[in-house]
Amino acid sequence: METYRHIDVRPVSGALGAEIRGVDLKAPGEAAWNEIRAAFLDRLVLFFPDQQLEPKEMAAAGAQFGQPDHYPFIEGLPEEPYVIPLIKEADERKNFGEGWHSDTTYTEKPPKATCLYSVDLPEIGGDTLFANMYLAYDALSDGMKALLAPLKAVNSAAARKDGGRASGNNYQSVKLINRDQDLEGIHPVVRTHPETGRKALYVNALHTMRFEGWTEAESKPVLKFLYEHNQRPEFSCRHSWSVGTFAIWDNRAAQHFALNDYHGQRREMRRMSIAGDVPV
Ligand code: SIN
Repeated sequence: METYRHIDVRPVSGALGAEIRGVDLKAPGEAAWNEIRAAFLDRLVLFFPDQQLEPKEMAAAGAQFGQPDHYPFIEGLPEEPYVIPLIKEADERKNFGEGWHSDTTYTEKPPKATCLYSVDLPEIGGDTLFANMYLAYDALSDGMKALLAPLKAVNSAAARKDGGRASGNNYQSVKLINRDQDLEGIHPVVRTHPETGRKALYVNALHTMRFEGWTEAESKPVLKFLYEHNQRPEFSCRHSWSVGTFAIWDNRAAQHFALNDYHGQRREMRRMSIAGDVPV
């Protein structure tokens, strides 16, 4: 367990996640930022409650983790184009991010991290689940690890259910862009984290279609096993939002799932991606 002198780190489950107290993200100071970045690598998802961040301030906080990047399918806010709105109105049924996934794995360089800031929340529901893909990999048998080691997976935007064509989603309050663009990313099934050197499972139910060189039918039973395995409760944590919470997660070693259990209530978040490398 890391020790911290400038921030108060409170783990939220055995697997991953920590709440960070005692920090104003507008001006934490360099010593606190260094500890926050260490906590990010250690806990994979951090939650900073009681923040008051305008879109540009959110982007500045996110930029402490890397270069901000554009999400390909939703137009950014006029005042800060890297930040996109995620809004589900009370009369809408679909949400953004329902299903376990790592973000936009259909791109050549999927984002290292994603930041999310809560603006308006349902009275009940709208939690986000997270899961630790290092633990998921470590818990596999040697036989399964050997099978997966040489494999790559084909990830496709055409299959995505996060607001694209496949979902039939017609959000009222966000502007969808590039709707006909088919992006495809072929990445190792097991990736090595560029900073920690640890191995993490890197297939997900929203974007992964099949193994490279395998048919979808052949891939399906193994992927089904991996998706069920990834969801084991002991690899996970659950975050119940309060307004003004800034969160950031590590897409290289964690997956997440936005629960859609608040029909009839409104939820508004702001989201920004941090650019990543080609997974290896
Ligand atoms: C996402 O999947 O990026 C959004 C998660 C959420 O809204 O809770």
